[in-house]
Amino acid sequence: MKLTQTKEELRKALGELEGSVALVMTMGALHEGHLSLVRAARASAQNVVVSIFVNPLQFGPGEDYEAYPRDLEADMALLGTVGVEVVFAPAAEELYPREPLVRINPGPVAALYEGKTRPTHFAGVLQVVNKVLNLVHPDVAFFGQKDAQQLALIRTLVADLDIPVEIRSVPIKREESGLALSSRNAYLNDEERIEALAISQALIVGRDAAARGGAPDSVRALVQRHLEQAPGVTLDYLSLVDPETFGEIESGTAATRGLLVTAAWVGSTRLIDNMEVLFHE
Ligand code: PAJ
Repeated sequence: MKLTQTKEELRKALGELEGSVALVMTMGALHEGHLSLVRAARASAQNVVVSIFVNPLQFGPGEDYEAYPRDLEADMALLGTVGVEVVFAPAAEELYPREPLVRINPGPVAALYEGKTRPTHFAGVLQVVNKVLNLVHPDVAFFGQKDAQQLALIRTLVADLDIPVEIRSVPIKREESGLALSSRNAYLNDEERIEALAISQALIVGRDAAARGGAPDSVRALVQRHLEQAPGVTLDYLSLVDPETFGEIESGTAATRGLLVTAAWVGSTRLIDNMEVLFHE
């Protein structure tokens, strides 16, 4: 496993690889969710490259850029358990020697849901994804369903800019309790960890209600009620969207598949989660 911290070191390390390359992009503070992406990458290509970079462009003012957990040594140890050829962990100045002047405009979906409270977030995500794809030029890149809106926007980026890479998604990895694994779970105290379970539980209630024949409107309303009544949880948004386009499933529409997407505050920690639901025709 080679650790590279500059573009030049990365270029050299990539030059020594033979065969196909799979990329997993992360911001570090790695957990089993990230490792499920690395394992999928491992199974799909001869070489695996993992990037670790807390991307300042995707954090808004007052967000947790400074506080975001960073532990390269622990991350390297975890990656060693799966087997990775190259780790790319640049400093911010290496990727952004100055403020970038040419910016990605992520389009209208980036203004919805996560983008409502984080208006510059997805522009920053797509900027760094585009850069790292250009630096690594992988055959395939893996992203988690955990960040469903991000995944949809990355697919749009790759399609609209004809970036020669295949994007694959990996299901959400959860704790046995149902809590979706996230680096931000580290901010939760014991009580908040329990309160946070209401988020995945509410989504499951919605999924089950749809399976029993509930219509989209009633399923969305049911999940919303559960989230609004959950102690310690402050709902930011709960929507039922088309899993591909992320367009909202309008009231009264007959849908067969939908994605319940939510963000909620537990204490001072903002968590996101989502779940696919299947409706009866
Ligand atoms: P980060 O939050 O570190 O997540 C890196 C990748 O791991 C993303 O594709 C994310 O969806 C996936 N992931 C995180 N938790 C997961 C879980 N519980 N189950 C499955 N996959 C999970 O997402 C980012 O970083 C950044 O925005 C990035 C794409 C690296 C650009 O900076």
